[in-house]
Amino acid sequence: MPNGYHQHNGKNLLQQAELAVESAIDINDLDQIRVKYLGKKGALTLELKNLSKLPIEERPIVGEQINKCKKKLLDIISSKKIILEKVEIENKIKGSEVDVTLPGRSWGLGTIHPITRTLRRISSIFEQAGYKIETGPEIETEYYNFTALNIGDDHPARNMHDTFYIDAKALLRTHTSPVQIRSLENHGAPIKIVAPGRVYRCDSDLTHTPMFNQIEVLKIDKNINFSNLKSFIFQFLSSFFEREVELRFRPSYFPFTEPSAEVDVLSESGKWLEILGCGMVHPNVLKNVNIDPENYTGFALGLGVERLAMLRYGISDLRLFFENNIDFLKQF
Ligand code: FA5
Ligand code: MG
Repeated sequence: MPNGYHQHNGKNLLQQAELAVESAIDINDLDQIRVKYLGKKGALTLELKNLSKLPIEERPIVGEQINKCKKKLLDIISSKKIILEKVEIENKIKGSEVDVTLPGRSWGLGTIHPITRTLRRISSIFEQAGYKIETGPEIETEYYNFTALNIGDDHPARNMHDTFYIDAKALLRTHTSPVQIRSLENHGAPIKIVAPGRVYRCDSDLTHTPMFNQIEVLKIDKNINFSNLKSFIFQFLSSFFEREVELRFRPSYFPFTEPSAEVDVLSESGKWLEILGCGMVHPNVLKNVNIDPENYTGFALGLGVERLAMLRYGISDLRLFFENNIDFLKQF
């Protein structure tokens, strides 16, 4: 052992420092220990300064040893620091009133209303079949809602419609059929359109609401017949329900179609529910929009959107759709 080596005190200092670091209770404590040994006037720093007092040949050896001690101490301090920081955070969490481990409050994302969903679904099925979407006003005139549809002034069908009148001439449309007239006036024949929208009737029970949605379908072309109408309805219903549904065509009456029918679907609870009215467009309706019924024929139908939603989702009271009960609506 070279002469003078005994004067180097690094190893002892390191042992002391290690004990101190081990028992440090917080970051502050730890930092004081760092300063005490490694600071400008720290014990290990002084050792290095004292190197100059050693014989020249010992200086590099002792210097290297002291530097090793410094490095070791720095390593110990920084691992202890990580542990103490973790403890500090844990203590903060324990002591604070805010529990940051609780899940955050959600934004409460909304869902699409089942009726809107059904409307979009039906419209897209028709669009894929090449039908163009048309719309008309909810406040209509007697002419479009009744007269042009072959429902004359004193036709008994006017009373059957439970109409909300605004004044002598203006009313809330009772069906989407007036869009047939508006579209034929605008585009003439041939035509393939679908017209979704709100309609109004003074009516309320399990299967009726004063406001509801219909989708009107109109196809006018050469040589359209009743069998085209039936196959159209079958195809639509199988793609809408994606399952076999039991349905029945029932002869019916509408002034604007001849012959006319209504279609009922068997619900899961075993009841027949009417979903649509339909028929071959009446020659008088074509004449009212200057189309020659000898040249063109066509079919039309008006679907009850809420009724289709009831059947698809197994809902027995149609009014539920409009009561804004969030728990009910969230299910869709
Ligand atoms: C009509 O409204 C005719 N415009 C349908 C039509 C169009 C026939 C084209 C021929 C050619 P209806 O009043 O039956 O028909 O109503 C059609 C559908 O709307 C009914 O089958 C039913 O599904 C639905 N519906 C009728 N009233 C209500 C109501 N108050 N609440 C919910 N849905 C209703
Ligand atoms: Mg009906």
